[in-house]
Amino acid sequence: MPKKINFQGKSLVSITDLSKLDIIQVLKIADELKKEPQPHLLDGYVMGSCFFEPSTRTRLSFETAMQRLGGRVIGFAEAGTTSGKKGETLYDTIKMVSGYTDVVVMRHPLEGAARRATEASDKPILNGGDGANQHPTQTLLDLFTIKECQKKLQGITVAMVGDLKYGRTVHSLAEALRHFGARLYFVAPESLQMPNSICEELKTQGIKFSLHENIDSIINKVDILYMTRIQAERFPDKMEYEKVKNIYVLTPRMLDKAKPNMRVMHPLPRVNEIETGVDNTPHAYYFEQAKNGLYVRQALLGLVLGKL
Ligand code: CP
Repeated sequence: MPKKINFQGKSLVSITDLSKLDIIQVLKIADELKKEPQPHLLDGYVMGSCFFEPSTRTRLSFETAMQRLGGRVIGFAEAGTTSGKKGETLYDTIKMVSGYTDVVVMRHPLEGAARRATEASDKPILNGGDGANQHPTQTLLDLFTIKECQKKLQGITVAMVGDLKYGRTVHSLAEALRHFGARLYFVAPESLQMPNSICEELKTQGIKFSLHENIDSIINKVDILYMTRIQAERFPDKMEYEKVKNIYVLTPRMLDKAKPNMRVMHPLPRVNEIETGVDNTPHAYYFEQAKNGLYVRQALLGLVLGKL
């Protein structure tokens, strides 16, 4: 039996903050919570929900997770309603919120913002996405979902498609999959390929990966096709976005060549990179994926508050 890891009081800023054993433990607890809800686990605790950037799934699933465990939530969904509008710094804002709460979940458009928040807070900070950098709680729900639909994590083949340069979800996921001997296919136009820093790290770890420009060349090889949105908001030059915005559109026809058990995942929101017709195929798994965020985030809240 692996030693039980103590998460109490710890922040989660990057997926690299977690070891393989940590990840396995979070997924196991999330699975238990999915099967057996614990409506009073966090009675009396308060979560700060600080979203400086838009979100549907991350914010609402964290807030639901806290409330379904018996806890309460304060916070904001839009930075313009806070005293940041009057010039208050991120440091001061987080210091205040951590004084009112037991755990703080945050999303911010700037890379490194969550790490900075840990310096201001004496409560755990859970990073719900910092710019193009990291989205570790998304990665945990992605791993949970892969394990759920493929019945294993070890040795799976995963294609990541779309905006791999600015996509924080794929940065975190690629870094996590190195623990599980995955074979990775990175499908992107040259200008949006996976950053060199991550490719070099994968090479050092002996993880096999290859770079591709179209989905057709890899779709028959993979267990998971992980689609992502080309993110208009991350492009410094809007003309560059216009050139690539419709580069990948997954259609039901393209799935004819896929393995029967191949599943399509997407962190969502989608724009037009998955045709709605795909939703009705047995390959679609992105809505189940988003729902799993609830259980994984319940597990994280319970762990960092020392109740699991
Ligand atoms: N996957 C994800 O982060 O979605 P939201 O932007 O809606 O939170």
